[in-house]
Amino acid sequence: MTFSPTTHWQTLWINVHLATMTDGSNSYGAIENGALAIADDKIAWLGKQSDLPTYDSEKVQVIDGQGQWLTPGLIDCHSHIIYGGQRANEFEMRLQGKSYQEIAQAGGGIVSTVAATRAASEQDLLASAKPRLNALYRQGVTTIEIKSGYGLDCANELKMLRVANELKAHFPVTIKPTFLGAHALPTEFKDDGDGYIDLVCQQMIPQVAELGLADTVDVFCENIGFNLEQTERVFVAAKEHGLAIKVHAEQLSDLGGSVLAAKYQALSSDHVEYLSEQGVIAMKNANMTAVILPGAFYFLRETQLPPIDLLRKHQVPMAIATDANPGSSPIHSIQLMLNMACTLFRFTPAEALAGVTCFGAKALGLASNKGQLAVGLDADIACWQISQPAELSYQFGVNPLTKLMIGGKITIN
Ligand code: NIG
Ligand code: FE
Repeated sequence: MTFSPTTHWQTLWINVHLATMTDGSNSYGAIENGALAIADDKIAWLGKQSDLPTYDSEKVQVIDGQGQWLTPGLIDCHSHIIYGGQRANEFEMRLQGKSYQEIAQAGGGIVSTVAATRAASEQDLLASAKPRLNALYRQGVTTIEIKSGYGLDCANELKMLRVANELKAHFPVTIKPTFLGAHALPTEFKDDGDGYIDLVCQQMIPQVAELGLADTVDVFCENIGFNLEQTERVFVAAKEHGLAIKVHAEQLSDLGGSVLAAKYQALSSDHVEYLSEQGVIAMKNANMTAVILPGAFYFLRETQLPPIDLLRKHQVPMAIATDANPGSSPIHSIQLMLNMACTLFRFTPAEALAGVTCFGAKALGLASNKGQLAVGLDADIACWQISQPAELSYQFGVNPLTKLMIGGKITIN
């Protein structure tokens, strides 16, 4: 480790405990009675406070953490927070016995949100996304991925991605927009999935890449989404345009989307309840991350558990995210996801925290800059009024966040 000279330090946290998350999901990488210094938006030094080098107290802004815990800023690596309307009516239909698939096949589901999103102006979409992002930000989220996928034509997909980029002007959060044109079949392409994929590959992806609106492409590979061949065509087009890929796969059935994604070196495969051991091994060999989405599992009352033990056995990193969206996970709480990953999937609290820090960063291709408290990484730091890190997974509904720092600047105090 090279430490930058103390003369460069701008800010110094003292009297803090650090959950560095530098040990993957094995432990919190805890440093008790620690300190952490920042220079030029990056972490410049961290360690035991008793080892703190001499610094110029006139030049360095000192923050006394009073025994609180610091973690990396939280990362929500899978969300759909930009959309028009809402789907409480479908929630009621499901309570009367209809399934998510039945509702989708009857013209509800994603395509009903598509109609509302197309009807919404850019201003409307921005206004409705802001409180969702604000809720996550207030819970310590410093980086979020936001997908398109409710426009499903060129103009409306680009509109969604512009809104995702506009949110950057309203929040200090790092926003990673992802293009999810292959989310569902729009009604004008009913029975012509291949024709729609032509549009995605030949028009949408080139424009998204050229305008720099997203750097990653996602596909919903599923029996109510797109088949393997269509998914592969999208992957090829994304790669041709220099875009990274990820996939919604094995959520409702095992089509083999994760194996295909591994072949194309995808960043992650997300949902994965129906993932096979073969899929797990393919993901491991391709250095992919499994993104586990407890909110969708809970809200859809799914009973097929993701293969957590197989993912552990083959050491596939597991991220956790909200999947915040109007249909399958209308949940804007990262803290609830930590709790649900433990209660529903038997994550350890350290695995859960890794899922929204170091492995969330990995799922976004940001592991070299974010997700850990380590020298040289971005100074995105959450400060919590807790007595041990497991408290973050143990309870929800009371917000223990007391301060948030993004890029070395305090944004919540
Ligand atoms: O991640 N799986 C596909 N897409 C979303 C659901 C979107 C919706 O129902 O509106 C998901 O669960
Ligand atoms: Fe999703």
